[in-house]
Amino acid sequence: MSALILGIESSCDDTSAAVIRDRTLLSNVIASQQVHKDFGGVVPELASRAHEANIVPVVSQALEKARVKPEELDAVAFTRGPGLLGSLLVGTSFAKALSLSLDIPMVMVNHLQGHVLASFIREEGKPVREPSFPYLCLLVSGGNSQIVRVDSPLEFTILGQTIDDAVGEAFDKCSKMMGLGYPGGPVIDRLARQGDPERFKFAKPHVPGLDYSFSGVKTSLLYFVRDEMAKDPQFIEKNKEDICAGFQKTLIDILLDKLVKASRLTGIRTVAIGGGVSANSALRERMIAEGKRRRWDVFLPEFKFTTDNAAMIAIAGYFRFLAGERAPLDIAPVSRNSDF
Ligand code: KG4
Repeated sequence: MSALILGIESSCDDTSAAVIRDRTLLSNVIASQQVHKDFGGVVPELASRAHEANIVPVVSQALEKARVKPEELDAVAFTRGPGLLGSLLVGTSFAKALSLSLDIPMVMVNHLQGHVLASFIREEGKPVREPSFPYLCLLVSGGNSQIVRVDSPLEFTILGQTIDDAVGEAFDKCSKMMGLGYPGGPVIDRLARQGDPERFKFAKPHVPGLDYSFSGVKTSLLYFVRDEMAKDPQFIEKNKEDICAGFQKTLIDILLDKLVKASRLTGIRTVAIGGGVSANSALRERMIAEGKRRRWDVFLPEFKFTTDNAAMIAIAGYFRFLAGERAPLDIAPVSRNSDF
């Protein structure tokens, strides 16, 4: 069955709309909000107002770029959560209005499942390479750190997850502690490339099973920096590359230790990554290296699909639409993954 789907993403600070025909992406428009940059983080109320201003032009552009008229759409897929409620409400309400006015069904998508399925987005002129089922996905973002077993585009089992901070949060907090700005991941990634990852070591947690913890390593950095700064107030400035490299390596070691364990326990060797932190260059290199060493079939999303985007919502919605899933008009967004 052929399907033309409009995807809408508004869970945090990116307003995005994408159109896919079957699995092929026709357009993916993202309006990143600039209003938060003076606040060192996303301000929820400002985010929802910016979504309101952006949603109509972003959807129009996505349809225009795809050369698709609204009447041609078969369904509208939207992010139901997890995320900021006010932001989610804008995308959800817009999807409802579109569904009513065009008389087409709505399909709800879990944002995290969108990240996990990003490997299935096809692009014109690019070779098709997709994970086979079952596969493991290391889902790493500002709000989540999970190892997910994916048995089909509709079947997900969380094998392990963080018991405190998400790994993206650890990057962001480390950056804040060192006065490097927000979001921290890209800054630390860049500085770490010029640093020695072996010079400074940080404490690794001992968490049973496949769960993660990142608050200890953050505290370890905090005490380390505090003690060194007491001896030399220029310590961060003089050593920031090595500190970032060491801290980043510790986070990646923690992520990979559990991923390797999950692969061993399940016998699954097809491994993908997704979410904002999957843009990290050292993590990507390490995934390729581990893949070679352990004969894994590794899937890394393209950079443009690592951050929040509607293309992944459209592809996840496509699978749900084909499976016959439809969202009722009175559906409400949810802020937490556990509320689904
Ligand atoms: O998935 P995402 O865009 O937003 C949600 O959390 O939903 O992820 C954002 C997170 C932030 O914590 C940011 O610091 C991190 O992804 N991030 C990175 C990199 N780029 C973004 N972390 C490490 N290295 C990067 N290159």
